[in-house]
Amino acid sequence: MCGIVGYTGSREAYPILIDGVKRLEYRGYDSAGVALLQDDNISLYKCRGKVSELERFCLDKNIKAHTGIAHTRWATHGEPNDQNAHPHLSEDGKIALIHNGIIENYLILKRELQRRGYQFKSETDTEILVHLIRDISKNENISMAEAVRQALNEVVGTYALAIINTEQPEEIIVAKKGSPLLIGMGENEYFIASDGAPIVKYTNKVIYLEDGDVAVINTNKKIEIRNINNEKKRPYTQKLEITLDQLEKGDFPHYMLKEIFEQPRAIQDSMRGRINVEKDVVSLGGIIDYEAKLMNAKRFIIAACGTSWHAGLVAEYLFETLVRLPVEVEYASEFRYRNPILNEDDVVIVISQSGETADTLAALEIAKERGATVIGVCNVVGSTLARNTHAGSYTHAGPEIGVASTKAFTTQVTVLTLMALSLARKKGSISLSYYHRLINDLESIPQKIDIIFQQNDYIKQIASFFTNKRNAIYLGRGVNYPVALEGALKLKEISYIHAEGYPAAEMKHGPIALIDEEMPVVVIATMQGTYEKIGSNIQEVIARKGKIISIVTEGDTQVKEMSDFCIEIPATEELLMPLVSSIPLQLLAYHVAVSLGCDVDKPRNLAKSVSVE
Ligand code: F6R
Repeated sequence: MCGIVGYTGSREAYPILIDGVKRLEYRGYDSAGVALLQDDNISLYKCRGKVSELERFCLDKNIKAHTGIAHTRWATHGEPNDQNAHPHLSEDGKIALIHNGIIENYLILKRELQRRGYQFKSETDTEILVHLIRDISKNENISMAEAVRQALNEVVGTYALAIINTEQPEEIIVAKKGSPLLIGMGENEYFIASDGAPIVKYTNKVIYLEDGDVAVINTNKKIEIRNINNEKKRPYTQKLEITLDQLEKGDFPHYMLKEIFEQPRAIQDSMRGRINVEKDVVSLGGIIDYEAKLMNAKRFIIAACGTSWHAGLVAEYLFETLVRLPVEVEYASEFRYRNPILNEDDVVIVISQSGETADTLAALEIAKERGATVIGVCNVVGSTLARNTHAGSYTHAGPEIGVASTKAFTTQVTVLTLMALSLARKKGSISLSYYHRLINDLESIPQKIDIIFQQNDYIKQIASFFTNKRNAIYLGRGVNYPVALEGALKLKEISYIHAEGYPAAEMKHGPIALIDEEMPVVVIATMQGTYEKIGSNIQEVIARKGKIISIVTEGDTQVKEMSDFCIEIPATEELLMPLVSSIPLQLLAYHVAVSLGCDVDKPRNLAKSVSVE
């Protein structure tokens, strides 16, 4: 959450900073700010709202500078307003600081600083840092980097920090613990950012800071990185694995729509090189070294949040059916605080698009501490999750910028399918013919999704039916139950229509009380084991005048006749159905949100990467 950008070099900093925070807006967008070093002064401009508001605010301001930092915020402490926006400035105006993360002991530190006479202008946890660092640097007569290190030794919590100060006007000090931060290396210029998006336009040489690192970036010197104990570290330069066109919307009006339409390609990339000509799953990223652990596992535990948790629920069906081992799927936020019982025979799979979700990372650490093998399924290369798991597979979806996850979900399910298939094949837990049927069908999923796209205009028409509705129910059974949850999540998060997903048979245990002529009920009723049963569930809705929007298998007549609207999707193996049945639900949510005039890529109150608890 929150985006950080910094620049020091010979170019004008402001356009680089503004372009950078725009690219990071998906991480948070309730307020934004920029601090620029101008001669011996720091100019600070910040305001509530998106980066475009900040740009308007700066139109008549002096923005000339070669060093600066900028921030786009997702509020944790203190409401989104001008005062709480970052950067924060020291009382004497000599230091400006931006922060991503949470300072847990900020109240104790704040009281102590207030006792010493410091006046606070904001309600944020961040502001204590700027006063604390200034207090130390004034009283101890030490370098700013040393003052930062000492201050951070007093802090409990997580942070990615960027600091500029008037005494070293070509310098940015950065520090990291629990929130990502990268340094981009140009020719006599440096870029900093909370991910690669603002940097890739200028350089693909980056240094990923590690937890506890404090780095001094100065165009007159070599980068100096020290850990929290003040030991010098050798900077390790890596190649940034993203390209600029992956970050652009192209001809699409929104990132979400672009990412929905990218799914055939993204799923292909997830499979690429992982199935050989004999149709065997040959290799899955880095998990080969841990294959014995996977083969001997007694139980799989899956921990994730949000959409990734839904992918985990799909994996429960995949692993139980194909590998015949017990699977438990956990909300990472609950798992981490539940004192879970784990042992060395357990394999814990953590799933995360960003690889920075705080609760998922905490679940990962607990699982490791307790001796389990931890496998990651993750999209962002080099993310904390990717670096901290024992082994794992990237989804290769490419950057996902729209806040609502779409291609992340289908590529996670693809990778989890490959994992389950590979294990099932090696363990001999499914027949060879079924195994080959699944592999063949998996390979045809991208074409099937392309066929669904032909109905985009029809789905847009269905969306107009939702625009005056306040609620919706999504129903599915078996492997389509997580798809119902995911469809409901998509609708509520981007259109603000209240939506709930249920296993269809659960409806009569309570939710049926909500059904009346105003209630749209989206039912995923593809041909599968429970097809007849879901037909009865639909009848129960119709008897109460609910409106049925069904997702059915091509050629279906039975459910189609009962439906007010019906979307046909290509026939697919039951276990792989979520890869296709989720697509019309993504499009439906998208078109409903657009028709209601919502900002689909930046829905209210949300942020892409939830790096705070
Ligand atoms: C919903 C959505 C969120 C994320 C969740 C986990 O569309 O995007 O529910 O799925 O915040 O994020 P990752 O996958 O990055 O751990």
